[in-house]
Amino acid sequence: MGFDTLNEPVPEQAHDPHADLSSVLPMTATIEDGRLRVGGVDMVELAREMGTALYVMDEEHIRHQLREFQKWTTYHWRDVETVYAAKAFMCKAMCRIVHEEGCMVLCASGGELAIALASGVPASRIQVHGNNKTLAEITEAIDARVDRIVVDSVLELERISAIASERGVTQAVLLRVTPGIKPDTHGYIQTGQEDSKFGFGLNHGLAMEGAKRACELPGIDFAGLHMHIGSQIFALQSYSKAIEVMVDFMRQVREETGHTVRDLDVGGGIGIKYGLADEPSTIEEFGKVVVDGIKAECERHGLPVPRILIEPGRAVVANAGITLYAVGVVKELPGIRTYVAVDGGMTDNIRPALYGARYECLVANKAGHPRTEVVTIAGKHCETGDLIARDVHIQPVETGDIIAVCATGAYCHSMSSNYNKQVRPGVVFVRDGQARTVVSRETYDDLMRCDIG
Ligand code: LLP
Repeated sequence: MGFDTLNEPVPEQAHDPHADLSSVLPMTATIEDGRLRVGGVDMVELAREMGTALYVMDEEHIRHQLREFQKWTTYHWRDVETVYAAKAFMCKAMCRIVHEEGCMVLCASGGELAIALASGVPASRIQVHGNNKTLAEITEAIDARVDRIVVDSVLELERISAIASERGVTQAVLLRVTPGIKPDTHGYIQTGQEDSKFGFGLNHGLAMEGAKRACELPGIDFAGLHMHIGSQIFALQSYSKAIEVMVDFMRQVREETGHTVRDLDVGGGIGIKYGLADEPSTIEEFGKVVVDGIKAECERHGLPVPRILIEPGRAVVANAGITLYAVGVVKELPGIRTYVAVDGGMTDNIRPALYGARYECLVANKAGHPRTEVVTIAGKHCETGDLIARDVHIQPVETGDIIAVCATGAYCHSMSSNYNKQVRPGVVFVRDGQARTVVSRETYDDLMRCDIG
C-alpha cells in the first residue's frame, strides 16, 4: 500500500478564520498594526533584515517553560532535577539559558556533548545517553567527568567500567529500562515498548542482569534507573503505568541485589500544542502525575523516594519557536489546490514529511486579517512530499509575503539538512525588543568546508 502524501486525510481542524493562534505561538507574540511581533520585535522587518528562511525563538518563552517544569515538579517533591533534552533544539546560547535557569543538559551524542561543554555548562550538569554510544563517545563523556551516563546495554556497562577503572575514576550510571508501555503517539517516536532498540527489557531477566552487572562492575556507581516511553504524549496515564512498572523493578533490584537506587529518571515526551485542536496536558498536571505517582508507588513498596529526573525537550522549545519564510511562486491549480512555495522546506522542517506533522501558519505582514484561504505551503526541494503545511487555513497570500509557521522550535533546526545543498537558516533569539543571532545562516563556503576534494 502506497502513502499518498497529497491525499492522506487531513484531521479535522478549526475552520474559524478568526480563530486566535496565540495558544500555538510564542508567549510574547502580539499583533500590532496587522503585523506579527515576537519578543517585541517586528517579524516582517526581522525577516527582511536577516533574510529567510529564519528560525526565531522567544527567549522569555524558553525560560518560562524551564521554570514551569521546575516549579511544578519541586512543588510535590524537593529533589527533582530538570534535564533539558538538547536534541529538541541545541546551540551554545540555548545551553547557557538552560544552565542559567538551574537545569541540566541531556546530550545524545559526542557532538551534543562537545557543544554543551563549549557553551560553558559544567560537566557536572550534563547527562549523556544514546543506544549505541561509540567507544570514543563513552571515553569523551568519562574524561569530561559528566554527571551521569544512561546505559543501554551490558556491553556499554563493561566499556564504561573498563575506561573508568583505567583512569581510576567512578562513573555514575542510570540503567535504561523499557517498561513495556506503548504510549499513544506516532510509532516512530514510541520508545518504551518491549520491542525496542532502546534500553534493557524486563522480560527474560535482561534488566535484572544489567542491574546485577552494574552493582558488581568496578568503576561503576549504579545511581539509578531511567525510562523514556516516547514523545508528543498527551495521555499522562502512560507515565503512571510506566512508573508503576519502574518502581516495582526498583523493589526487585533491592530484593535481589540489596542495592537501593537513588535516582529515577522518567525521561521526556510531554506533548505540546501544534494545532488548535490539540489538547496536551499541562506541565502542572505532568508534574503531579509523575511526582505523586512515584511517591505513592514507593510508599506502597516501602522504598525511599528517589531523586527524580525529568527530561523534557519539545515542551521547552516547540512553541517558543516560529519559522519565517518569504513566499515565492503561488500556483493555483483550479479544482485541485493552491500551492504557495516558500524559500525553505523539508531541509529546515522534515517533520511533515517524516511524521505527517501538521502546523498552523499565518501571514506575518497580514496577521490582523482573518485566515479565509485554504492553501498548501510547499518547500523548494525536489520532492512531492516537501510540504510544510497541507490544506492549511491562512490569510490571502501573494508573492513577497512573509509566512510564519508556528511551533517549530523543536526538532526542526536540530533535524535540518543540506539536501539540494540548501544552506541551513540562522537562528535568532528575541527578547525585550532585541534580536540577537545565535546561529548564523550557513554560506556556500560552509557547504564546501568539508568538501576537500
Ligand atoms: N529523553 C530521551 C532519552 C529521549 O530520547 C528524548 C527524545 C527526550 C528525552 C525528549 O523527548 P521530548 O520531551 O522532546 O518529547 N524527532 C521526533 C522526536 C524524537 C524524540 C527522541 N527522543 C519529532 O520530531 O517528533
